[in-house]
Order: sequence, then structure tokens, then C-alpha cells
Amino acid sequence: MSAPVLTIDGPSGSGKGTIARLLAKRLGWHLLDSGALYRITALAAQRRGIDLQDAAAIAKLAAHLDVRFVGEDETCVLLDGEDVSLLIRSEQAGEAASVIAAHRSVREALLEFQRDFAAAPGLVADGRDMGTVVFPDAPVKIYLDASAEVRGARRYKQLNEKGLDANLAQIIDDIRRRDERDMQRAVAPLKAADDAHVIDSSFLTVEQVLAECLALAGV
Ligand code: DC
Repeated sequence: MSAPVLTIDGPSGSGKGTIARLLAKRLGWHLLDSGALYRITALAAQRRGIDLQDAAAIAKLAAHLDVRFVGEDETCVLLDGEDVSLLIRSEQAGEAASVIAAHRSVREALLEFQRDFAAAPGLVADGRDMGTVVFPDAPVKIYLDASAEVRGARRYKQLNEKGLDANLAQIIDDIRRRDERDMQRAVAPLKAADDAHVIDSSFLTVEQVLAECLALAGV
């Protein structure tokens, strides 16, 4: 491994995206939002009219994606030079990402691309299998969890703040279904690495979680 890597895995809505971004900023390290790669791959497939179950066609596409993370905190995502940062954040894009992420060949096609993000001075890698598959030798692994109810309520609040219509029970249902798919798939299922530190963020503030992660990182 060319640089130290800190991995943060966990289910959607656990707050790992926010924590990963804040940690990367605080440490001055690069950031890998691996979920964005799956979201972008799904978007690129849909734009080309490829069936989301066509693993071979999507893997081929994934191997040649023109994706760049730009901006000060590397959170602006360009696909073929187009800013798709907002487009890939929809519920529909997350759902499509979860479907194509279950294909082994698609995951393999994205593996080296993800590993190449490990560059000096270090990398904070956010995803589902960062500590188990992509960076198994990472010195610090965190698994951030929260109950489906708390994650649903957070998502509901976000949507409300954006003025979007939302149904809390429906959101919690969707979260449970996505968890189930991500945890039950045969390849690289969502789970904590044996050597991961598990943090349940259900009743913690962002600042409390960040402080715990920084302590684990030795800062
Ligand atoms: O973290 P996210 O919500 O942006 O991820 C979207 C989907 O991508 C998620 O439901 C499962 C998949 N994913 C994955 O399988 N492996 C990763 N390392 C990251 C995301």
C-alpha cells in the first residue's frame, strides 16, 4: 500500500459520508467516495440503455469510466466531464447503484481504480467493503452503524429541508430493503471487518463521532 488508509464502512444513512469528508479535511488526506462510483456506473449504464442485470456489459463500462473527483474536498463528481454530483444523489440512483453493485464482475472492474486512490499523504475510503475487500491491510478501520429508524428519520429531515415530499415509513422500508440487498449479496457483502472498530451513531452527534474517529486515527 502506497499511503496510509483509513476505511469507513457502513449502511446508507449511517453518516459515514459526512464523517469521511470531515475526517479527510481534518487529516489533509484524499477522499474516496466509493458509493459514488457505483452510482455513476449505474447512471452511465442507464444513459446507454443497458439493462441493470446485464453484468458483463456494465462491467465493461465500469472498466472504462471517465470519472474524476474534483473541487477542494474532492466531492464534485465529473462523468465524461459533466458535473453529475447532484444527479447521482437521488434515491433512484442509490437503488440502481445497489443493484449493479451486486454483480461480481462490476465490483472487480472497479477494484484497481479504487485502490489507486491510496496516495500520499493518506486516504479516507468510504463504502461498504473498504475494510474487508478493497483495503484489507488498512491500519484503521471503522464501521459506522445506526438503526434503520434513526437513518430513516435523518433522510426524512434532509428531504424535508430540501422541500421534497417524503413518507417516513416508506423511507425506513426502502432503507431496510437496501440493507438487506447489500448485506445478503454473495460478493463483498456489507459487514464489519473483523478488525474494525464499530461505532453506533444512533444517539451521537456528528462532532462526537468525528472525535471518536480522530482518536482511533491517533489524532
Ligand atoms: O454509499 P452509497 O449510498 O452512495 O452507495 C450506493 C450503493 O452502492 C449502495 O447501496 C451499495 C453500493 N456500494 C457498494 O456495494 N460498495 C461500496 N463500497 C459502496 C457502495
